[in-house]
Amino acid sequence: MDHGERVRKRLERSQWIITGLGMMVMLLSIASVWAPSDTPYYLNLPPGFPEPVIPAGNEFTQERVALGKKLFYDTRLSSNGKLSCASCHNPIHSFTDTARVSMGVDNKSGTRNSMPLVNLAWASSFFWDGGVPTLEMQIRKPLTSHVEMNRDVAALMRDLQADAEYKSLFKKAYGSLNEENLYKAIACFERTLVSGNSRFDFYFYYKQPVFSESEERGYKLFFDGNYKLHCASCHGGFNFTNQSFQNNGLYESYADQGRYLITNLERDKGKFKVPSLRNVELTAPYMHDGSLKTLEEVVEHYASGGKNHPNKSPHVHIHQAYQLTEQDKVDLVNFLKTLTDRDFIYKREHRPE
Ligand code: HEC
Ligand code: HEC
Repeated sequence: MDHGERVRKRLERSQWIITGLGMMVMLLSIASVWAPSDTPYYLNLPPGFPEPVIPAGNEFTQERVALGKKLFYDTRLSSNGKLSCASCHNPIHSFTDTARVSMGVDNKSGTRNSMPLVNLAWASSFFWDGGVPTLEMQIRKPLTSHVEMNRDVAALMRDLQADAEYKSLFKKAYGSLNEENLYKAIACFERTLVSGNSRFDFYFYYKQPVFSESEERGYKLFFDGNYKLHCASCHGGFNFTNQSFQNNGLYESYADQGRYLITNLERDKGKFKVPSLRNVELTAPYMHDGSLKTLEEVVEHYASGGKNHPNKSPHVHIHQAYQLTEQDKVDLVNFLKTLTDRDFIYKREHRPE
């Protein structure tokens, strides 16, 4: 083999290598068009918050969160093209609305007060009656309900398929556009709505002297067992709820039987999911039916010991040992307002583009 031939052979070999490499690059780029991209998304955990349990197959990625947000704010999800999830879950009110009961399409009204969407990644059931166990399963209800978005899901899927941008976003986020992935994307966005940056958190976790005297007294009334108010026995922990269902004595006879509608158990009549109190200052009116207009009315309700009901929790009662004074009531309300997290409501990542 002379020198010229050797050079030719080497050139041939390197051509093969180059062609081979080229083909690999091509294959990889084809694969990346079909396979979802998964840019990591890191959830910022405030102090005191445990790591949430995320369902397998719907782990956070930036692509999924971005798609979920776009869907959450898209009015095409309603039959008349006027309502998005955000119509009843407005960020400025900690993702709820100000109506006593929410208005759906064509001004049809439901029977329950819209719920704030806050720290849902840690919730173990959804709706006032806890009727669904996961966020992914929850979304079909408002989407199709006649008094909410009233949307025909098959028609919605056809509309999304015809939209090149959605097609590409779904492909990147989940690999394909289908109903299951629609619910997954919205759930993924909802789990990013984390609120734990209130003045209470500065006081409690960072030991900062940010409370006024009144707020400090309210804090003691809320948490301290000596006053027999027991607020924290239900609204305790990092998210101000113990996730149970309770009857807090709102009525002697309930028009909406709450948890009973799911379990059919007599002992569940008039029981509702204990709501988180984070951002409660922003979420009026209050209770499952929006019947109490202000925090003052709520405190008055508890101070009165509530109405008689066989299922009323023993923790809601008139306090023989400690009668609330007018100042106590003011202090309690002032404490509840320390749970407001302004960062949460103005955060750019939570709001429409
Ligand atoms: C017409 C107003 C309205 C619209 C639109 C609406 N919701 Fe709701 N949402 C409500 C009401 C009312 C409740 C309480 C319902 C119940 O308890 O039966 C609720 C409850 C929820 C809950 C349960 C929260 C918890 O803590 O248990 C979630 C999550 C939620 N909605 C998400 C959504 C999403 C996502 C969309 C869009 C697909 C949406 N909602 C559209 C009014 C609305
Ligand atoms: C036995 C458990 C229990 C105790 C004790 C309790 N709550 Fe509640 N709280 C609930 C339940 C359940 C609801 C929702 C009831 C409903 O919608 O009918 C609620 C609702 C509320 C709401 C309205 C939240 C919203 O989003 O509508 C506020 C505010 C509140 N409670 C504050 C307090 C305060 C302050 C105390 C102490 C004085 C207290 N709670 C004691 C169970 C309890």
